[in-house]
Amino acid sequence: MPAVVLVGAQWGDEGKGKITDYLADQADCIVRYQGGSNAGHTVELDHEKFMLHLIPSGILYPEKTCIIGNGVVIDLGKLIEEIDGLHKRGVSTSNLRISSRASVVMPYHKKLDEIEDRTHNIGTTKRGIGPTYADKISRVGFRVSDLLQADHFRVRFNVEAGMKNRLLQEFYGEAGFDIDEMISELMAQIDRLKHYVVDTSLLVHSNLRNGKKVLFEGAQGTLLDIDHGTYPYVTSSNPTAGGACVGAGVGPTEIGRVIGIAKAYTTRVGEGPFPTELLNETGEFLRQKGAEFGTTTGRPRRCGWLDAVILRYAARINGLTDLAITKLDVLDELPIVKICVGYRCRGELLKEFPESNYVLQDCVPEYIEMQGWQQDISGITEYDDLPQATRDYVSAVEELSGVKQALVAVGPKRNQTIVTHTLF
Ligand code: IMP
Repeated sequence: MPAVVLVGAQWGDEGKGKITDYLADQADCIVRYQGGSNAGHTVELDHEKFMLHLIPSGILYPEKTCIIGNGVVIDLGKLIEEIDGLHKRGVSTSNLRISSRASVVMPYHKKLDEIEDRTHNIGTTKRGIGPTYADKISRVGFRVSDLLQADHFRVRFNVEAGMKNRLLQEFYGEAGFDIDEMISELMAQIDRLKHYVVDTSLLVHSNLRNGKKVLFEGAQGTLLDIDHGTYPYVTSSNPTAGGACVGAGVGPTEIGRVIGIAKAYTTRVGEGPFPTELLNETGEFLRQKGAEFGTTTGRPRRCGWLDAVILRYAARINGLTDLAITKLDVLDELPIVKICVGYRCRGELLKEFPESNYVLQDCVPEYIEMQGWQQDISGITEYDDLPQATRDYVSAVEELSGVKQALVAVGPKRNQTIVTHTLF
C-alpha cells in the first residue's frame, strides 16, 4: 500500500504521534498536511520522550524523509526552536523538507488570535492558527516562498502589516508591531530555514512514482475540521482525510488506505458541546490515568466515554479503512465501561452525528454498558492474549463504528502496540 493517511477520529489528542511513530518505521516518507504549532504529538521511546508540534513524528528515524506540506501554517521561530531542540538531543533534521507553498504565521496573527478569542471564546491554542488561515483564504497572507523573494516581500509586507497595525491600534486599542523589526526577524529566520525549502508536492510524487511508502500525518481530529467539525468550536484547517490531498499536493487516487485513530474513550480541549463528557470522578480518573493534559497548552482535557456516533461519522467523512484504538490500558481498572450508541434529543433518538451544535448540545447519550476487564493489559503483546472482556469491548467498537481495528495501543511506549493487520 504506497500511500496511507492517518487521521484523528475524535477531537484530536487520540495518540496520533505514537501511531505515526510506529508506522513511520515502515514508511519512506512522512508528510504533515495541515495545522501548525497548535498540534502536539508525543512520542515515547524507551528512555526518552519527545514532544513535536510542527515536525512530523517520523523525524526520529534518521533515514526517512519528513515533509511539512503546503497545507501547514508555520511559525518560523517555533520551527527553529523545534529543530534546535532535536539537534541538542542528537536527532538529525537533514531529511526535513518544508513546502515553499506553506503559509507563515506572523507575530500579529498570534496577537490577533489572543485578542479575538477573548470575544469568540473558542478556547484556541493562541498560536495564530485561525488568523493565519483567514489571511491565506483572504489572499493577504505570506507563503514561505514569498520570504525568499526579499524585495517583493518587503513591499507587500509593509502594506499588509500596516493594515494589521491599524486594526490592532484603531479597533482593538492595542500596540502595533514595528514592521522593520518584524522584517529583519523574518529574514533571519528564513535564512536559517531556506536549505530545507523545496516544492514538496514534487518530492511526494517522486517518492510515490518510485514505489516508496508515504504516510500522511493529520494533526487535530475529525470533529475539529473546519468543514465537518463542531463549528465554530473547531480549528481552521481540514484534518480529515481529504485535507491530505490538498495539503500535500497529491490526488485522491494516490491514497490507498485511511486509518482513523480513536482513543478508547473521548477527550476534548477548548469549548463546545461534548455529549459523553463525564463531570464526575470517572472523568477525573480518565484525566489522571490517561495524563489528559494538553501537550501544547497544558490545559486539562475534558474526558468522557467512547462515542460510537462520532466514530461512525468519522468513518464516513474520512472513508476509514481501519481503526487504531489507543490508550486501551487507561480503562484497565474500571468495573464497567460504557459506549454511546445514539443520542436522545428533543424527543427523538438520533443515530447520526447532528449538523448543528445547538442540536448537539441538547443530546443526551444512550449507552451500552460492558463488563470492565480489571486487569493490567499494558504488558500484553498478542491480541489473543488480551482478556475476553477487552476483546469484547474492541469488537463492540468495530461493530458500532463499522470499521475493523488493525492496531490497539496498550501504553505509551513503542513496544506497547499490538498490530493485527499489516498497514503498509
Ligand atoms: P486553534 O487550532 O488554536 O485555532 O484552536 C481551535 C480549537 O481546536 C480549540 O478548541 C483548540 O483547543 C482545538 N485544538 C487545536 N489543536 C488541537 C490539538 O492538537 N488537539 C486538540 N485540540 C486542538
